Amino acid sequence: MARIIDGKAIAAEIRKEIAKETEALTAQGTTPGLAVVLVGEDPASRVYVSMKEKACAETGIFSDEYKLSAETSESELLKLIDKLNSDKRIDGILVQLPLPDHIDESKVLEAISPAKDVDGFHPYNVGRLATGNPLFQPCTPYGVMKMLENTGIDLTGKEVVVVGRSNIVGKPVALMCLAQHATVTLCHSRTADLAEKVRQADVLIAAVGRAEMIKGDWIKQGAVVIDVGVNRVGEKKLVGDVEFAAACERASAITPVPGGVGPMTITMLLYNTLESAKRRAGSSR
Ligand code: GUN
Repeated sequence: MARIIDGKAIAAEIRKEIAKETEALTAQGTTPGLAVVLVGEDPASRVYVSMKEKACAETGIFSDEYKLSAETSESELLKLIDKLNSDKRIDGILVQLPLPDHIDESKVLEAISPAKDVDGFHPYNVGRLATGNPLFQPCTPYGVMKMLENTGIDLTGKEVVVVGRSNIVGKPVALMCLAQHATVTLCHSRTADLAEKVRQADVLIAAVGRAEMIKGDWIKQGAVVIDVGVNRVGEKKLVGDVEFAAACERASAITPVPGGVGPMTITMLLYNTLESAKRRAGSSR
């Protein structure tokens, strides 16, 4: 039976360290600050945003929330970002995605100062990651890497198969694994014979967002399985992208859903905000 990689426990450990460092930095006169911007009423986004606020409060990070109506214009949003870019109390700016249809997402992400882009979505930070010299790395894939590290998994020479090619998870996690000397295969919805690709994986990272589409018997004996998917089935139940029970029979280690990758995302957001504040303390930005 597979060992369960406990994301909740790993996240709690990292958050404790963040709280300690935040306290020390605050004592030296720099309190890390995060601005969270939410446009509209998307219920899932509202939940995420309130979780981020709570996590900031628990670690001593200052958080400033901007909850804007769904009718907010693109230029109003860009004006707010401009203001936050020059706000001395703010080390990180997060604009919750998705944005309403009338707002151009890439225009908004490009308006955020790369030095405050704690989501790592600005093309400058994407480029820094792609060239192997990251500044800010996106939170969910960064959390995946921390979990692998914490579990003692060395990726050198391993076959990593990523399923899903989003800008938020699939693409950046593939680049991060490449930087750790893995051989990376990036699969997606149009990959021919996905099962055959998955069977090659020493490490499988599933980020497609389709309930249990990766079957347990596709998993190679002894593989490590990281399931980024969070899919609601029925009223209450959450499942990942991988058939968990069947995958447990073959994997050597696996992340559960919930309680796996989920708690790591906000943790890495706090981590990036603290890193940004440390840079501010060490310079006169
Ligand atoms: N929406 C879904 N995931 C994310 C994320 O990591 N950051 C932001 N800003 N929005 C998201």
